Amino acid sequence: MRAAGETIVLVPTMGALHEGHLSLVDQARTHGTKTVLSIFVNPKQFNVTADLERYPRDEARDLALLAERGVDLVFAPDESVIYPERFSSHVSVRALTECYEGAGRPGHFAGVTTVVTILFNLVAPHAAVFGEKDFQQLRVIEQMVGDLGVDIEILRAPLVREEDGLAMSSRNVRLSSEGRIQALVLGRSLRRAAEERRNQSRQSEDIVLAAMSELNPLIESKQITLEYLVVVDEETLEPILDIAPEHPARILVAAMVEGVRLLDNMPL
Ligand code: PAJ
Repeated sequence: MRAAGETIVLVPTMGALHEGHLSLVDQARTHGTKTVLSIFVNPKQFNVTADLERYPRDEARDLALLAERGVDLVFAPDESVIYPERFSSHVSVRALTECYEGAGRPGHFAGVTTVVTILFNLVAPHAAVFGEKDFQQLRVIEQMVGDLGVDIEILRAPLVREEDGLAMSSRNVRLSSEGRIQALVLGRSLRRAAEERRNQSRQSEDIVLAAMSELNPLIESKQITLEYLVVVDEETLEPILDIAPEHPARILVAAMVEGVRLLDNMPL
């Protein structure tokens, strides 16, 4: 494809595809002339074996969706292709990786940056698309590509939600119908935060309190377990207390519902 002068755009995924992933495909198709999507459930980024084992997989359905959406090539390697015998290297980014998704999950981001580097080298795309759904992951990849001079343009895709506001995720299928309703509180709390910000609130404390007013009842009844809720600088991901006008800020949240870890975020 490269030799033929095509512009190749890679969409790395772990499969169990939904409309969020497919929006990345749409973006890839408008940016390049050939779209490659990879499906690889990367063991190195899971630090709980049960989570890896329960990760949803449905390759036949994924392939049908991708054919319909106009993907040119699907790369779904076996584990031995990505990590052959005696594999012994890793790529890790120091900044941005210790907090939030990195806290309590040692090696998670190194697992991500290692597999993404391998996928970049095997597929050799001109650009790659990552979703803002995993905002910290996106920033870590951007940092890696900048630091190491990787000649691949990183494209950002906006977070896609279900009609009722739940951030789309492959893990959502593990929720019961009650859990699915409880999970809606995450999006609702972020909308409250954004509304508070629009009402000229500059203090993160007030913005977080507005979000907590939605979350508190479900936390108290133990229907959700909050892991973090924080207002951060979009670039450094450091918490900010006072948001100056025009300062790019974002609120990040992670919570467990029925043992399923859910993430959401929203620009402020
Ligand atoms: P996975 O969770 O399958 O996500 C693949 C890509 O789809 C990521 O860039 C993610 O941010 C994006 N995505 C998922 N849900 C989305 C949504 N609701 N809206 C917009 N984009 C969404 O992230 C991974 O896989 C892995 O860590 C990977 C990068 C493939 C490395 O193994």
